[in-house]
Amino acid sequence: MEIRLIAGNAPEIETECLIAFALDHAEKDPAGKQKPDPRLATADAALSGAAAEVIASGEVSGKAMETVLIHRPQGLKAKRLLITGGGKAKGFGPAELRKAAGAAVRFLKARTIKSGVFTLPAMTSGQEEAPRVIAEGAIAADFDPDIYRTDRKDQSMKEIMVLAPPGSDQARLQSSLDQGRIIGESQNFTRELVNEPGNRMTPTMLADRAQQMCAAAGLKCEIMGPARIKELKMGAFWSVAQGSDEEPKLIVVRYEPQGAPEKPVLGLVGKGITFDTGGISIKPADNMEKMKYDMAGGAAMLGAMRAIAYLKPKVRVIAVVCATENMPSGKAQKPGDVQIAMSGKSIEIINTDAEGRLVLADGLHYAKTLGCTHLIDAATLTGAVSVALGQVNAGVFASDEDIYRHFSQALERSGERFWRLPLDAEYFESIRSQIADIMNTGGRYGGAITAAMFLKEFAGETPWIHLDIAGTAWIDDAKSWIAKGPSGVAVRSLVEFVRSFE
Ligand code: BES
Ligand code: MN
Ligand code: ZN
Repeated sequence: MEIRLIAGNAPEIETECLIAFALDHAEKDPAGKQKPDPRLATADAALSGAAAEVIASGEVSGKAMETVLIHRPQGLKAKRLLITGGGKAKGFGPAELRKAAGAAVRFLKARTIKSGVFTLPAMTSGQEEAPRVIAEGAIAADFDPDIYRTDRKDQSMKEIMVLAPPGSDQARLQSSLDQGRIIGESQNFTRELVNEPGNRMTPTMLADRAQQMCAAAGLKCEIMGPARIKELKMGAFWSVAQGSDEEPKLIVVRYEPQGAPEKPVLGLVGKGITFDTGGISIKPADNMEKMKYDMAGGAAMLGAMRAIAYLKPKVRVIAVVCATENMPSGKAQKPGDVQIAMSGKSIEIINTDAEGRLVLADGLHYAKTLGCTHLIDAATLTGAVSVALGQVNAGVFASDEDIYRHFSQALERSGERFWRLPLDAEYFESIRSQIADIMNTGGRYGGAITAAMFLKEFAGETPWIHLDIAGTAWIDDAKSWIAKGPSGVAVRSLVEFVRSFE
């Protein structure tokens, strides 16, 4: 799908479909009743005029994600006008616009309408972000994970345009749109990787895909195999990899722009379990097929690096992805085994299914040895995070208030939903081991937190953020603005996090 800016007057645009947004301006009346008061979010009188009749008819409420299509709209040169609901006018900001733009694209896509022109709506805040969020929402919406279906109808949109009205600052709109295109395409890159099943996304294949992306984007990419992983004494990473016939890969991607200060160096560490059977502590058969998405954290880091390479912020970034399968076999580690991590800490393995924290322990420590001054990891780490937060919010943990401020600012720009969970020292008691420094699981309670406490031991004094995306990296029910399947969660927030250090 192409996306670009065009200039002109809405009524003059010849297109398959002009897209406008309707907002509900209703205020509560004294009785507490609310009759919708939908109005088109545009300053263009002709555009409002074209929608006047259908709005007066009561068919449009302005409710979020509502779609009403008008053919041969009066007074417009466009063949169709799609009115997309943005919800309450008061709360309509960039996050709502991103989703509404996605809903518009999926509506058109399903009807094989291949091109459309977005008009820019007025918002209560963040007006300058409109082209970026439209691009992000539209590109994410264009993605469908059906590449292996032979009856696949390629319904991908051909082109989306964003209309710069006369008198607007086109250079600024263009720059905003370009950012949105880069970020949206990078999120989809991550989703493509996550969508691949285990047999088509082994650690070696993930490393190859990383290398291809880096070559295209101008990033340095280093791939290390079993010999180097052992030489680095990555005993925690290796303990997971040893059970598999597939070679593990340590993927290191460097973004070192000219003119960037020596510090900070941001370390992006991703869990890249290309398939998680649980190992000897094997998972039940039900839903095990979903464990192909256990590399979503690593894929998010690669997507973020792709975006960073094209956006070119003046800040150093290194991504480390620990890629391996977690398999049962005669060579697999066993519950009770003791492993020595790269940092020197000893780990008592209680459950071989708590493998993500093992590979990340060495990934985080390794990132520090590469000179990272700040760490952020992303992982489909625990089922417990979905028990705590459902599939709406992902979990975020932070060891330091300053780094958390960066992340929380990033969330305002990315529109992603993360909820902060605690890291009180008391939680460490559940992972204290009698025979080693630490155990890899912590019992029934607070599973997402004890997993994070485990990682914290390896982040040490370095400011660190942990993102648990187990509940949000895969969308189980299709939404009107995004397909069922891999979500690409965390990519946008990671990109904004990096940019906040510029
Ligand atoms: N990859 C899983 C976590 C997961 C579960 C991701 C469901 C996505 C959906 C992780 O490796 C795991 O197995 N965690 C265990 C930890 C337990 C053994 C302490 C879990 O959550 O059950
Ligand atoms: Mn597991
Ligand atoms: Zn896992």
